[in-house]
Amino acid sequence: MSNQIASAIAHPNIALIKYWGNKDHELRIPANGSISMTLDKLETRTTVSFNSSLIEDTLTLNQVSQNGPSLKRVCTVLDIIRKIADISSKAEVISESNFPLGAGIASSASGFAALSVAAATAAQLDLKPIELSKIARIGSGSACRSVLGGYVEWKAGTNHDDSYALQLAEQDHWELIDLVVIVEKGHKTIGSTSGHKLAETSPYQKARVQDTKRRLEICRNAILLKDFHTLATIVEEDSNMMHAVMMTSNPQLLYWKPETITVMKFVQDLRMEGMEVCFTIDAGPNVHCLCTPTYKDELSSMLQQLPGVLDVIHSSPGGAARIIPLNGV
Ligand code: PMV
Repeated sequence: MSNQIASAIAHPNIALIKYWGNKDHELRIPANGSISMTLDKLETRTTVSFNSSLIEDTLTLNQVSQNGPSLKRVCTVLDIIRKIADISSKAEVISESNFPLGAGIASSASGFAALSVAAATAAQLDLKPIELSKIARIGSGSACRSVLGGYVEWKAGTNHDDSYALQLAEQDHWELIDLVVIVEKGHKTIGSTSGHKLAETSPYQKARVQDTKRRLEICRNAILLKDFHTLATIVEEDSNMMHAVMMTSNPQLLYWKPETITVMKFVQDLRMEGMEVCFTIDAGPNVHCLCTPTYKDELSSMLQQLPGVLDVIHSSPGGAARIIPLNGV
């Protein structure tokens, strides 16, 4: 094989029931199952080119050449693909995202989902979504959910073979809108890979994990029944539970900024007044505000006027990770 190349696109996802902490850090077997919605407007496009003349793997993210931990994670995923395909060529990986990286929008989720799909195709493998989901999980846990579109559940499992994501409902099952309120564009100081390792130092993590089955069931049913009120209550509860664990870890993790809390309070007040909206926050200060389409425009303009809000990005449920034509990058 001299040069095998493929491009893929994948979307990040917003966790409605969060993954935080691992049973196995290396394989990223999560402490608990999780549920997410894949986001359509945000995307990562990745091209992988295996070439026998390369002497090492290379990675370019948003036009900046990468070394160190991010390249190492990419090499780990490429090594799995090389092993399955029985090839030894190194690869050139070029990736572009249309949203801020490392600021609590799951750039690693779309990144590793796109990488897994592009690399598998470039290596001439024809893998099923479950297999791609397991490979993406090794790069970043939440990436296993971005392999699928619409509403997705990651079955925690206990080992590499039984820890993968499945689609719960198609992307057009329920049009929820995610308004991502950006209050910080820079990189977070503690990434989620380090954060997951701290989860078990919080005395609250055990209780959070033990209660997961209840939250998953409520969330799954609320999605299937399109019951916004029930979804809103469990999504906010779950986000607060994860951040309570983060804030009580040793060392503690406080991802919020004052503007984060301003948005949280604002959203809660609007829901009290009858608007179908709720918040959820990943490992960063930006706030995902989920609403039904009726409220999208009114809510978006109100959020944009809040102090410290830099941008509001709109997304609907998005599709699965997929191959795109090569000139798509
Ligand atoms: O996949 P990671 O290692 O970036 O972890 C994601 C963790 C959260 O975004 C905070 C929650 C989740 O389930 O996506």
